[in-house]
This record gives sequence, C-alpha cells and structure tokens, in this order.
Amino acid sequence: MSPQPLKVAMIGGGAGAFIANPHQKAIHFDGTRKVHAVALHPDPEVAMNEANNWPYPVKGYASYDELFEDQAKLPENERIDYVVIVTPNFVHFDPAMKALELGIPVMCEKPLTVNLEEADLLVAKAREKKVPFAVAHTYLGHWSSWFSRHIVQSGLLGDVRWVDSYYLQGWLADKLEDSGQMQAEWRTDPKKAGGSGCGGDIGTHALMQLRFVTGLDVEEVSARLDKFVPGRPIDDHFTTYGKLSNGGKCLVRASQICIGHKNDLGIMIAGTKGALKWSQEDPEKVTILLQDQPDRTYWRGQVCANDGFLGDVPQWLLDEPTIPSGHGEAFHDAYARLHREFEKDVRAYQAGEPWSCDGSTYANIDDGRMGLAFIDACIKSDDDDGAWQPVSKS
Ligand SMILES: NC(=O)c1ccc[n+]([C@@H]2O[C@H](COP(=O)([O-])OP(=O)(O)OC[C@H]3O[C@@H](n4cnc5c(N)ncnc54)[C@H](O)[C@@H]3O)[C@@H](O)[C@H]2O)c1
Repeated sequence: MSPQPLKVAMIGGGAGAFIANPHQKAIHFDGTRKVHAVALHPDPEVAMNEANNWPYPVKGYASYDELFEDQAKLPENERIDYVVIVTPNFVHFDPAMKALELGIPVMCEKPLTVNLEEADLLVAKAREKKVPFAVAHTYLGHWSSWFSRHIVQSGLLGDVRWVDSYYLQGWLADKLEDSGQMQAEWRTDPKKAGGSGCGGDIGTHALMQLRFVTGLDVEEVSARLDKFVPGRPIDDHFTTYGKLSNGGKCLVRASQICIGHKNDLGIMIAGTKGALKWSQEDPEKVTILLQDQPDRTYWRGQVCANDGFLGDVPQWLLDEPTIPSGHGEAFHDAYARLHREFEKDVRAYQAGEPWSCDGSTYANIDDGRMGLAFIDACIKSDDDDGAWQPVSKS
C-alpha cells in the first residue's frame, strides 16, 4: 500500500508571492506530499482570506505562531510532517526556530537568515534536536548539477584550479523598489534582506553551486559590494575573489543591474586536465572540454553506464525517476527533486531509521550557514577595501 502523503505547512505565499508557487507545485509533484496547512501573510485577516482562497481546501492559520501553537497541542503522529518557509529573509529565523523546537523538519528558503549569528543559533538547535533541515538552493536539484558533481569528483577534469560561478540578473537596474514592487521592496531593505542585497539574494546561489559541484569550500575572500543605483542602501552588484580549500582560486559574482540578464546562473570549472561548463538557462546540458579533444556535451538520458569517455557512471544517476529524456526538465523539476530528496530523510526521521541530510542531494543547514558565513566575510572585506577575510566554519 502506498504511504500517506506527507502533510506540509507553508509559511508565506499569499497573493502575489513569487517562490511559494513553485514550491507548491514541487510539493505536489509526486503525489507523496501535499500542502495541508498555511500561514500566508503577516496580517491575520489577510492570512485567513488568502487561506480561504487557496485553490484546494487547506487548514488556514492567522499567523505562523498560531500554526505552531496548534501543532504543539497535537500528538506527534498527527502533526504536519514538515514546514516550508517562503517568507522574506527576515522572517526565516523565527518560524524555523519554532519548528525545530517542536521537532518538525524544515525546508527554508535561502539565504538561511539575515546574519551569521542567527544561522549559528539555528545550526545549534537543529543539532540538539536532530531534525532534518533543508535550505532551498533550487539549482542543486537539476540532474545536471548532480552529473557535474559526479564528473568533477571522478577526477576527469584533474585538480580544480579555477572556478567562475556567477548569477546575473537585470531586474533591479532601476529603482524598482520606489514603485512599491513587493519583491524589490524587501530585497533592497537591509533590515529585511540582510547585510548584502545582491550577494545574499543570488550570490549565495552561485556560492552553493560552486560548493556542491566541486565539493570545495571558499575559505578566504576579497570582496566588492557595489551599489550602482543611486540612493539604494544595499549592494546590487557583488564580486568576490576567493581562495578554495584545495589551494585553487575562484570568482563568485552576482549582479542585479545587468540589463537583459534574466536568471543567468552558470558555472565554469577549470581543472588541470579539462574544464566543465553549465548554464541554468539551458539546464539539461553539461559541456566537458579536454585538451586536444572535441568538446562533448551531455544531457539527461544520453549518458550511459559505461561510456568510454566518462568512465563508470553510477547507476543512481542513470536511474533517476523522472520523465523520459527528450521531455525537457527545468526549474520546477529541480524544485521537485529537492522536495523528493528531503521527503526521504523526513520519512526516515519519522520512522526512527537512519537519515543523512548530508548535503549530497540538497543543501542542508550547514550549507545554509556557510552561505551566511561567506556573506559575513564579504561584507567585512568590502568594509576593509577588499582585504582578505577568512570565512568562518561552525
Ligand atoms: N530558491 C530560489 O530560487 C528563490 C527564488 C526566489 C525567492 N527565494 C527566497 O524565497 C523567499 C521569499 O521570496 P519571494 O520572492 O517569494 O518573496 P515574496 O515577497 O514574493 O513573498 C513573500 C511571502 O511571505 C509572506 N509573509 C511575509 N511575512 C510573513 C509573516 N510574518 N507570516 C506569514 N507570511 C509572511 C508574504 O505575505 C508573501 O506571501 C526569500 O527568502 C527569497 O530569498 C528563493
């Protein structure tokens, strides 16, 4: 008999919200998870109206405090199975902490918190309570991110010397926040976004892509946080030169003033034997370049177990249970893959079985904290005219 779908609560996601919608689709993608409860807005009346207008029946709460108070009264086996936090950055810490206190697994949007102090507190609580915790770095959920990780770690490219990991957008090239645009307003307010605007918002995605695919950490940074749009109190352009944990170097860069760029996230990894290129706007294709050889581009479904060039490709990469290749996967599939992987750990946690949440298929709370440690070091470096700063480890 198939297991009951996991009951998921969403915090944030009322009318006009952006990322709640892809999460909602991803939760329902496999039929094994469903949105069960919602706390959608800071205003209790709006929150209830929006819950009542949800496209299918859900339990609405006037606030996330009310949601957690209600959960606390229920026996553990009747509670929600995990909570998804899709609020602006300054409303991540409090609901995440309240969920952890109750032993409820959390998938939180990135960046994990608005500062490193809050991130450290969450890490300590998650360790104390031993609860699965995911940070929604969407792009790790692409099959091509997993494949790239396998290629780098197989040694095909040799030792990693240089990585250019970038995320370029153009939507904040003008002072959009002055129009009242909801997403721009809080992202350009340091109290709501955190100490770095562009860096926290999308630089952390570029960082996480680098860390996930190469398995390396950025240990020291020399950073410049630029504010190109006059009157904006927070960076809209972010450039970091970094030292990698294997002695290599990297550039982690992000921008929201590059007109015409939509969600131009990509990575180029240069090793001692070859290089790899990937771009999320063409997310199924990974190009591998070796010295004196033709460029080779691979995509899902086209890789086989004993490819003469790639060597042995692990069966788990080939067996990925998705639609047959040739039917393109993209952003929503990547989100679904994060929820699918997180579901495995949540079910094991509930059954009292071993679970890993080890960062190998989705970003965990330590990865989320590394994002904040990186941003913290970049802000200090920028304040000190680009001087090298260590990225703190927990
Ligand atoms: N992983 C990704 O690719 C990705 C993409 C976009 C946004 N994000 C992250 O997702 C989060 C949300 O971003 P967004 O662009 O969807 O924001 P948004 O402004 O579109 O939506 C935020 C939602 O949170 C609700 N909200 C605010 N305060 C609340 C509270 N106290 N209680 C309940 N609900 C509350 C708002 O009503 C709204 O529904 C941010 O942390 C952002 O960095 C991640």
